[in-house]
Amino acid sequence: MTSYKELGLVNTREMFKKAVAGGYAIPAFNFNTMEQMQAIVQAAVETKSPVIMQVSKGARAYANGTILRYMAQGAVEYAKELGCPNPQIALHLDHGDSFEICKECIDNGFSSVMFDGSALPYEENIAITKKVVEYAHAHDVTVEAELGVLAGVEDEVSSAVSHYTRPEEVEDFSKRSGCDSLAISIGTSHGAYKFTPEQCTRDPKTGKLVPPPLAFDILHEIEKRIPGFPIVLHGSSSVPQDEVDTINQFGGKLPDAVGIPEEQLREASKSAVCKINIDSDSRLAMTAAIRKYLAENPGHFDPRQYLKPARENMKKMYIHKIVDVLGSNGKL
Ligand code: G3H
Ligand code: 13P
Ligand code: ZN
Repeated sequence: MTSYKELGLVNTREMFKKAVAGGYAIPAFNFNTMEQMQAIVQAAVETKSPVIMQVSKGARAYANGTILRYMAQGAVEYAKELGCPNPQIALHLDHGDSFEICKECIDNGFSSVMFDGSALPYEENIAITKKVVEYAHAHDVTVEAELGVLAGVEDEVSSAVSHYTRPEEVEDFSKRSGCDSLAISIGTSHGAYKFTPEQCTRDPKTGKLVPPPLAFDILHEIEKRIPGFPIVLHGSSSVPQDEVDTINQFGGKLPDAVGIPEEQLREASKSAVCKINIDSDSRLAMTAAIRKYLAENPGHFDPRQYLKPARENMKKMYIHKIVDVLGSNGKL
């Protein structure tokens, strides 16, 4: 058993309390590689932002859970070395799909876990979330739950259609499950193809897709029913079109990739939304930089040469999200 406290990590309780009161959101960035971890820490330290580093089942399969845990411990030490004496870094399990995986992460140094029972019948979702909460709270670990289904891939759970969270369920769900935060479905979805062209309109000037707006009416109704309760948005990458264009210019093929407009995330951050999940934008920033670098330097083959601009580009993107979208800068 390794407690996250021994690793210098924090749970999300205080972060969320301050974020809800202060009208901003905490960035939750997924990580799988050392370069992502370094870029996240550099961005958080330079902007004086709390940050959630999250690990999916896919990340554990790719990088190994133990290595990722040590990377998170390394992230805390690295932040101190960069001049931040008290970094606020949470290590979070993203889309945990069983009590067992949540327990394993809690036992191995995670400070926060998500149990994603959104695909389960309502009562079953409550029952397993409650079991996770009981175990997690005994170790001072915080728990995120989910109600409503996002379209797209949620780790191995995939759904072609979303259904929005039902506001009439959130009070009962949060009370009975005891969860600390609730992920909701209001029109975001995972990946770089969040909407089909048929769901969008097209900007006549650029030819780019314009996605349908998020369901702010549902968010506001949820806020009314559970005032001040921390709300989480998954699937919140914006799919920056300059990165998509760079990828396509240098041999990639991402036609009609589209994300959530940043103005809408900015608006959501000012409400009870206090955690915003971003993964795909990091993948795009990394891939765009690597494709460009290799196209322009065909004779280079040392990974450090192309991973360096990739890391720089991710850092720039993380800083932009923190400062210009979520507003968590200066909140340490
Ligand atoms: O929720 C999905 C995250 O972007 C994680 O994706 O399962 O491919 O690591 P992944
Ligand atoms: P994106 O695919 O929009 O980055 O969403 C990531 C996410 O929600 C991770 O849980
Ligand atoms: Zn997600």
